[in-house]
Amino acid sequence: MPMTQEDIRCHYEKEWKGKSDRASDASGLTYSSPVEDAVLYPIYQQLAADVGARVDGGRVLDVGCGSGRWIRFFLERYRPALLMGIDFAEASIELLRKWSPPTDGTTLDFRVADITSGHLSLGEPFDWINVANVLFHIPEPDLFMRALHTLASLVAPDGRIVTTEYLPRTSMRTEWMMVRSRYEFEAAVQAVGLRIVAVRAGGFFVHDPMGLDGPDQGVRRRFYQVRFAQERLLNGAGDEQTRGFLVSYMAELEQATLAFCKERLADIDLPGQKLVVLARAE
Ligand SMILES: C[S@@+](CC[C@H](N)C(=O)[O-])C[C@H]1O[C@@H](n2cnc3c(N)ncnc32)[C@H](O)[C@@H]1O
Repeated sequence: MPMTQEDIRCHYEKEWKGKSDRASDASGLTYSSPVEDAVLYPIYQQLAADVGARVDGGRVLDVGCGSGRWIRFFLERYRPALLMGIDFAEASIELLRKWSPPTDGTTLDFRVADITSGHLSLGEPFDWINVANVLFHIPEPDLFMRALHTLASLVAPDGRIVTTEYLPRTSMRTEWMMVRSRYEFEAAVQAVGLRIVAVRAGGFFVHDPMGLDGPDQGVRRRFYQVRFAQERLLNGAGDEQTRGFLVSYMAELEQATLAFCKERLADIDLPGQKLVVLARAE
């Protein structure tokens, strides 16, 4: 039975509560794999620079901040004036409020908030809104449109929103996700007065291959096999040195494959997630 938004909320309440109970320091506050981080973060930073994002000195919002992976990312690489994290799972916000990282002048603010709830007031508009791995977890069409309306209302006139999407040619519903096609996604953002200003592939094997059309038994199965094998290798690495070597090897492989494909294909046609930058249409 596919998950609803409410099922997703219940799942993350449990997930972040468990993490909160186990976390003894900031190193526990992560989500994702070290290979994904090594590949995606430089691509993200380059993209932010290319679209003229005002992150340093700006008001930055992380939507669906979860266990704080992107909060860490921004704190370690930029100096926003304000860095606000919102999540509809209370356990996420409890977890992040326990954590007091060095902020070097950035004001940190964590709040429980649901972007599908209609009107959301978070003060002055934001220069940069990060929405990582959130929108495809909102399967219901009315809630998805409300979430987009909310994002449009929160972004400054010259601000930007970056969201992670797969953008295949045909929409597909999985147990966990509503993977919207590039056409459906673009029509939805236009309907709320936004436009797509950039699409950049963020990985090759490091994400589920939902950018590919067709059934899981098709080409996607081969990608899943690579992903599972990589996971087994990393989990089975006996010591830190071997693990470190494997992470850099896998990241190199990923970067070489991505670079080769990007010379020949549009980013939107690659198998994994894309970073999609949105701006106000007017
Ligand atoms: C897959 S996790 C991603 C966490 C983090 N953004 C990352 O990329 O590592 C999705 C997060 O979005 C939150 N979320 C999902 N729907 C939301 C909504 N409508 N409003 C606010 N947060 C939401 C979930 O509670 C969860 O923490």
